[in-house]
Amino acid sequence: MKIKLNSGYEIPAVGFGTWQTPDGEIARESVRIALVNGYRHIDTAAVYKNEKSVGEGIKASGIARDEIFLTTKLWNDKHSYEGAKEAIQTSLEKLDVDYLDLYLIHWPAPKALRDNNTWEQGNAEAWRAMEEAVESGLIRSIGVSNFMPHHLESLLKTAKIKPAVNQIYLSPSDQQRDVVAFNHKHGIVSEAYSPLGTGTILSDEKLNEIALKYGKSAAQVAIRWSLQKGFVVLPKSVTPHRIVENFDVFDFEINEDDMALIDTLESIGKTAPNPDETTY
Ligand code: A2P
Repeated sequence: MKIKLNSGYEIPAVGFGTWQTPDGEIARESVRIALVNGYRHIDTAAVYKNEKSVGEGIKASGIARDEIFLTTKLWNDKHSYEGAKEAIQTSLEKLDVDYLDLYLIHWPAPKALRDNNTWEQGNAEAWRAMEEAVESGLIRSIGVSNFMPHHLESLLKTAKIKPAVNQIYLSPSDQQRDVVAFNHKHGIVSEAYSPLGTGTILSDEKLNEIALKYGKSAAQVAIRWSLQKGFVVLPKSVTPHRIVENFDVFDFEINEDDMALIDTLESIGKTAPNPDETTY
């Protein structure tokens, strides 16, 4: 299952998240296992410090580069034109690939730029470098992460290329309806990171009742809910049987009543960080 981006490229709707996946053998093996079990979309970031191993996992899978959708992200200390240009090169080298499918500004308002009130300028400059990388073929699609509507409004003032996606902390526990509606209105695909609330929603009684009814796990129901909402969903796991389980979500459909019930599960687990209050 794929979703069309405003860049013209298609993105596989279930991607493999690698936030908090330790570098080295664990990252390498989990990425390889994900790919040989059907995933075709891997999501990493410079700050996860696992890009090298993710690249090695991709090679170890034996699956051709052009069959895989690969995302990485700009860290907070590189929010400038030169900084972003350099960061893109570094990520390409670490991942050992010729191009990125998607490159995201990881956070809209890093603390240092918030304190001296230059975060808008930082995003505009980094975005210009990202647009150039699109023009030169190093990146196919560009987007943002953790942006709220006011951050996007600011970026849209100077952006020549519109963001293709906004990757946010999104699960039944925190549905970020205002951000999702803004994304939708502007043709930006919402990507759900931590779709299991980093695991915190999985013990919820109602979610488990619904899961039982469909003969699926709570994780699969949460992932399926995301898909039916039209989100790209990025479950993370380093456990082989869970990696397989989280991709086994295409053979059932949650009915309207149960979708509505899941919509009421706000705050059953962790909720999104406020990007204007982070300490990094
Ligand atoms: P692990 O990586 O040890 O397998 P999220 O995607 O919301 O960030 O959640 C990731 C967390 O949820 C990790 O702690 C992961 O554990 C756990 N997890 C991922 N998939 C499953 C699953 N199918 N069942 C139970 N826990 C899961």
